[in-house]
Amino acid sequence: MEITSEQTKYTLDESRIPKAWYNIAADLPVPPAPVLHPGTLQPIGPDDLAPLFPMSIIAQEVTTDREVEIPDPVRDVYRLWRPTPLYRARRLEAALDLPDDIRIFYKYEGTSPAGSHKPNTAVAQAFYNKEAGVKRITTETGAGQWGSALAMACAFYGIELKVYMVKVSYEQKPYRRSLMETWGATCVPSPSPDTNAGRQILAEHPDSTGSLGIAISEAVEDAATRDDTKYSLGSVLNHVLLHQTVIGEEALEQIAMADAWPDVIVGCVGGGSNFAGLTFPFVREKLKGKDVRIVATEPAACPTLTRGVYAYDFGDTAKLTPLVKMHTLGHGFVPAGIHAGGLRYHGAAPLVSLLLDQGLIEAKAVRQNPTFAAAIIFARSEGIPPAPESAHAIRVAIDEALAARERGEAKTILFGLSGHGHFDLSAYDAYLAGNLVDYEHPQEAIDEALHALPTV
Ligand SMILES: Cc1ncc(COP(=O)(O)O)c(C=O)c1O
Repeated sequence: MEITSEQTKYTLDESRIPKAWYNIAADLPVPPAPVLHPGTLQPIGPDDLAPLFPMSIIAQEVTTDREVEIPDPVRDVYRLWRPTPLYRARRLEAALDLPDDIRIFYKYEGTSPAGSHKPNTAVAQAFYNKEAGVKRITTETGAGQWGSALAMACAFYGIELKVYMVKVSYEQKPYRRSLMETWGATCVPSPSPDTNAGRQILAEHPDSTGSLGIAISEAVEDAATRDDTKYSLGSVLNHVLLHQTVIGEEALEQIAMADAWPDVIVGCVGGGSNFAGLTFPFVREKLKGKDVRIVATEPAACPTLTRGVYAYDFGDTAKLTPLVKMHTLGHGFVPAGIHAGGLRYHGAAPLVSLLLDQGLIEAKAVRQNPTFAAAIIFARSEGIPPAPESAHAIRVAIDEALAARERGEAKTILFGLSGHGHFDLSAYDAYLAGNLVDYEHPQEAIDEALHALPTV
């Protein structure tokens, strides 16, 4: 393979850390559907969310201001790892034997101390909670990336944290728990005996492997039933996507430094936060007339965007959260125990769902084994073992490049490498030993879960 010795990393000075988050709510082609109260089915107001979130965060959830200023203390923490690098994947291009006019770039968020994009919002959320005098926070985590990011952020601000970790990941990734505990958090496997929601699931399904929907129920119940505690979510909600837009704002500058513009951008979607963070600033440019395709990727075992319905549903299994209009597989959906724990969520961010419904973005599902095959090609050429979640974006980026080569087309591809996989090596072990199973979620199971959708 031939590798040319030209610029590989496009880096920005700390002074280029964005000063504002970009709020796509200001530019949507249609207004977002209102969020509904789980009991009354009427649109909720800020007071309904007050038991769970500080008012400053609720204000960000509903604002239609195009720009939201990033507080200086948050930018100061961002300085620890931001701006993150944009790479030209020259070694991957060579490994794929691509011609000169097919270029692959990736924006790497794994340089944060917790190893993913999640601290971009964890730090902001911990900051606003601290400002509001909150002493204790609860949250859920799938793969453990979000739990560890929030554990670090809570350590910075002296806030107590309890994390409900999806049981299958708790068992697959014990060192994520160690990391959370190192940063001072408490972490229990979910379903747990600590909440009504957890006890009820354990009574019905003692061997439950858990799900993000169940873990959210536990964390929300814990926060809603204690005066000293608020709840924090690592994806899906508008304010979380907002905080992640620092990724795309930096990437816009960096891709210009490379004298390039992406024909296609690819990001993986669990709840939608890293995808939104990278792509929403590009969607803004698309709405102004720039040409770019934007592709969201997800596991075939949890095909929320590609096979779910666009409807009102609960964000959690126990129906404690408000109803949001989103692509969903039904709040009762318990996905197979695939290794991309962060992508096993029954719903998707309402903002991402709306863009898909409006045809501004596309979605593609990929299976676990081809995804790990792409992860291996990437690790052996670029060096970074990707998080299994991020590998879904690599798979589709590689497929886009190979398809362009087949058609003899020039193409510039940008993908989001949302995190590294240093804590996911048991998944790599399983893949290398040939023990990974390709789950394709059966239609009957989807139909059954969708049956229980609330009537609105
Ligand atoms: C590295 C990584 N990428 C992606 C995701 C998916 O979440 P989101 O869709 O919110 O970016 C996760 C979730 O845990 C993650 O850890």
